[in-house]
Amino acid sequence: MELNIVVAMTDTGLIGVNNSLPWHLPEDLKQFKARTLGHPMIMGRLTYDSIGRPLPGRLTVVLTGNKDWNAPEGVRVAHTLDDALALAEACAEELGVAQIMIVGGARVYEQFLPKVKRLFVTEVHTQLEGDAYFPEIDRRIWVETSRQRYTSEGASALEYSFVEYLRRENG
Ligand SMILES: NC(=O)c1ccc[n+]([C@@H]2O[C@H](COP(=O)([O-])OP(=O)(O)OC[C@H]3O[C@@H](n4cnc5c(N)ncnc54)[C@H](OP(=O)(O)O)[C@@H]3O)[C@@H](O)[C@H]2O)c1
Repeated sequence: MELNIVVAMTDTGLIGVNNSLPWHLPEDLKQFKARTLGHPMIMGRLTYDSIGRPLPGRLTVVLTGNKDWNAPEGVRVAHTLDDALALAEACAEELGVAQIMIVGGARVYEQFLPKVKRLFVTEVHTQLEGDAYFPEIDRRIWVETSRQRYTSEGASALEYSFVEYLRRENG
């Protein structure tokens, strides 16, 4: 089973502010949907709260330390990384897919990064303030395999790039 990260970040690794996304970039939301649809996703409880509902077409495993957290229908709860992985793996097998998507936030990315094979990154080329960051992408561990740059058609005309990284064989 392959574990992949899907993340959007600025050039300084910023991913969030006040438990939400720091930018409005519909093209990234569309890309996120395309990347995750049909696959199990693992996310932290704060990220789940920021979305506020299960996303259709994807089984969501939410990590929380709170044993009383009530999972809405279509959401599974895990209290450890291993439990989250076991739940997501069982679901992926049922669905007949070989990839599990780790979709944040910062605490969850940090813990799963050493186990992940691919990073699907949207680089948002802007400078913003915030409070949640992705760990450094160490080029000794990750090799960039694909990069495409675009300009958003929204009013902000943000520049962004879809970038993929693969873990090096000895990484
Ligand atoms: N740009 C992006 O692509 C992207 C993607 C996702 C999120 N984000 C942003 O990231 C920010 C949220 O990140 P965050 O680090 O604050 O929160 P988070 O990673 O979403 O969630 C943290 C919570 O997950 C639970 N958790 C994490 N590891 C656990 C473990 N090993 N065992 C049990 N529970 C565990 C805990 O929940 P309890 O407190 O319930 O115990 C913890 O408080 C927001 O700003 C969000 O918008 C950005």
